[in-house]
Amino acid sequence: MLEHGAAPPTTPRPEQEPPATGFGARLMRRKPVEQLVAEGGQGAGGTLRRSLGMWQLTMISIGATLGTGIFVVLGEAVPDAGPAVIVSFVIAGLTALFSALSYAELAGTIPVSGSSYSYAYATMGELIAWVCGWCLILEYGVSVAAVAVGWGDYLNELLDGTLGITIPDALSAPPGDGGIFNLPALLVVLLSMAFLLGGAKESARANTIMVGVKIAALVLFCAVAFTGIRAGNYTPFMPLGMAGVSAAGATLFFSYIGFDAASTAGEEAKNPQRDLPRAIMLSLVIVTALYCLVAAVAVGALPWKKFSGTEAALSGIMEDVTGQSFWAVLLAAGAVVAIASVVLTVLYGQTRILFAMSRDGLVPKVFSTVHPTSGVPRANTVIVSLFCGVLAAAIPLGQLADATSIGTLFAFALVNIAVIVLRRTRPTMERTFRVPLAPLFPLIGFGLCLWMMSSLEVVTWVVFGVWMAVGLVLYFGYGMRRSRLATAEK
Ligand code: ALA
Repeated sequence: MLEHGAAPPTTPRPEQEPPATGFGARLMRRKPVEQLVAEGGQGAGGTLRRSLGMWQLTMISIGATLGTGIFVVLGEAVPDAGPAVIVSFVIAGLTALFSALSYAELAGTIPVSGSSYSYAYATMGELIAWVCGWCLILEYGVSVAAVAVGWGDYLNELLDGTLGITIPDALSAPPGDGGIFNLPALLVVLLSMAFLLGGAKESARANTIMVGVKIAALVLFCAVAFTGIRAGNYTPFMPLGMAGVSAAGATLFFSYIGFDAASTAGEEAKNPQRDLPRAIMLSLVIVTALYCLVAAVAVGALPWKKFSGTEAALSGIMEDVTGQSFWAVLLAAGAVVAIASVVLTVLYGQTRILFAMSRDGLVPKVFSTVHPTSGVPRANTVIVSLFCGVLAAAIPLGQLADATSIGTLFAFALVNIAVIVLRRTRPTMERTFRVPLAPLFPLIGFGLCLWMMSSLEVVTWVVFGVWMAVGLVLYFGYGMRRSRLATAEK
């Protein structure tokens, strides 16, 4: 359904896919770009609504990106990098930038809701697409659970600062982490579910307000903490050398995850071919600028050695600089809103990725059933929310949460390759955005992703390996036979 002024994606010239014969060919079967685009919005029982403009798409990407990374992870990265954490943010941002360029090109060319899963399906075949989709479940589904847990911590800090009470451990941590059930984590996921059931436009509106609040909170932090900057805090600038700076960069990459969220809204965007590339690039620029600014002010206001173990680093700095707990409480309130919007937008992205995978037959059909009047995949939204909510509330995520970055980097790496493949297989296809200097830039993006992956811990790789093995069992046991491309060939 198109709203007034909405421009539907133009359908590219048809591509001919030979029927897949043999086991290997079946794994490599590709879904033609025109089929992906033509099916856009269509679910079983109804269609998604095209209601999102450029501004809302940008806010979805910023909403999904700006959260725990800057409010929490910054404090953990400074002990590695010292004041040069600013450089670490730039390195992580550059890694994100090259992949963002590739996302922008593909989102403008294949404007559907499956993000990198769909790009891989069009270029590298079904098995790689499944692997990519399975990685996206780490990037979106598992990370939303981890972020919801972080939200509970900030809520406790806010309650402590305002009312002097905290939610007891039993109700704010899962079994194995000293509690019984993490109620706040479940609560924030259920609240997000309620917004999502109200519709994409309504959720986007709520998200835009929350993004405004979090940007205001960070600007406020900069303004207040600026008064506490001491030039001496910047020296030595790189106390632990370049190794520390790049290790911090790998940790901080987490804070850039989410810029691709707009690419999960391709089927609900009014003018996806024009707006998706712009939204992805604009959100990354805004987020990078904010991160560097906040980091520069934070390490200027607090000597780097004092960051050790400071989880709520920004609130602590506010309190240190002003000597008043009021500012720290205000910042904690900003963080509560900030992290809630990450939960909302990342949950949204997960539902839309599963929507695309379900329409292709790789996951059950219930995920692509759209409610006829609301235009929302309701059953999908409820199932995903309950799954993520229970994951956050009852399971100690531990290493699984750490595997989020590796899964994301793997998906990003594949997107860079997808750009190169599509340039070769469909050179004349209309592209609203082109990565400059291709294939050089996509290759740099690919290399940077692999480099970042290589700097993650061995245990993270092991968890990732187990995750992929489970994914492959599911594909060979279910998706491969149920795939719509497979059933169409029978
Ligand atoms: N980038 C997101 C955050 O920092 C995942 O919370």
